[in-house]
Amino acid sequence: MYSEFAPFYDTVQSGAAEAFAGWVERRAGESGVVPGSLLELGCGTGAVLELLPAEWEKVGVDVSPEMLEIARTKGMDAAFVAADIRSLSLGRTFDVVACVYDTINHLPGSDWPSVFATAAVHLADDGVFLFDMNTLGRLRMDAGEEHTAEADGATVSMRIHAVGDDRFDWHVRIEREDTVVEDRIAEYAVALSEVRAMLADAGFARVEASGGRDQPISDDARRLFFVCRR
Ligand SMILES: C[S@@+](CC[C@H](N)C(=O)[O-])C[C@H]1O[C@@H](n2cnc3c(N)ncnc32)[C@H](O)[C@@H]1O
Repeated sequence: MYSEFAPFYDTVQSGAAEAFAGWVERRAGESGVVPGSLLELGCGTGAVLELLPAEWEKVGVDVSPEMLEIARTKGMDAAFVAADIRSLSLGRTFDVVACVYDTINHLPGSDWPSVFATAAVHLADDGVFLFDMNTLGRLRMDAGEEHTAEADGATVSMRIHAVGDDRFDWHVRIEREDTVVEDRIAEYAVALSEVRAMLADAGFARVEASGGRDQPISDDARRLFFVCRR
C-alpha cells in the first residue's frame, strides 16, 4: 500500500491538502482550543502538516516508510514517527488530534475503535479530535469510476472496485514511458450510526458531524467531517 504511489501522491491529490489543512485550522480554532500541539494520525507525505501554522508543535505518524520518507525530505518543523495508528502509544497528549483525508477508511471497520482509542489516549482533556471519512454511499456510488491524472511525467489512473459490502479497493496504475507499476489501496466504509456508537465508547461525549457544502449528515453524503470532544 502506497509503496508505488507515494512519489505521485502530492501531485495527484492536488488541492485536497489545502482544504483539509484549512478545515483543521478552522475547526480547532472554533472549538476554543488554542493549538499548541497537534498529532496527525496517518500523516502520509506531510501534505497537510506542512500547511498548518508554523507555531504549532506537530507530530505525524504513518505506517508507510515510502510516504514518511517524502515527508521527512520536505524539511518542515515536525517530528515523524513510523507506527501503526491502531496501537500507537507516545506517552503524551496533544491539543489537537487529526486523522484526515480518508485515513480512517484505510482500516477495516472492526479496527476503527482502536484508532478512536488512540485518539482519545493522546488527546488533552479539553482537546479536540478531528477526522473525516468517505461514506458508504459515496464509495458505493463511485465504484467503477476511473480518474486519470498527469503527474511528474507519468499517467496515474485510479479505479474503485467494490470488493464486498463495505470494502472498496482503489486500483492505482502508473504508466511512464514503457513502465507500468500498480498499487492497490483498500478503503472500508462504516455506517454513520456505528461510527457514533464507536466514538461514544471511546469517550467522546460531544460529537458534531457535518457533511460539507450542500451535503446531508447521513450515509448519503460524500464525505462526513467529525469534531469530537470528551
Ligand atoms: C490518503 S493518505 C492521507 C495522508 C495525509 N493525511 C494527507 O492528508 O495527505 C492515508 C495515509 O494513511 C496511512 N495509513 C493507513 N493505515 C495506517 C495505519 N494502520 N497506521 C498508520 N498509518 C496508516 C497510509 O500509509 C497513508 O499515508
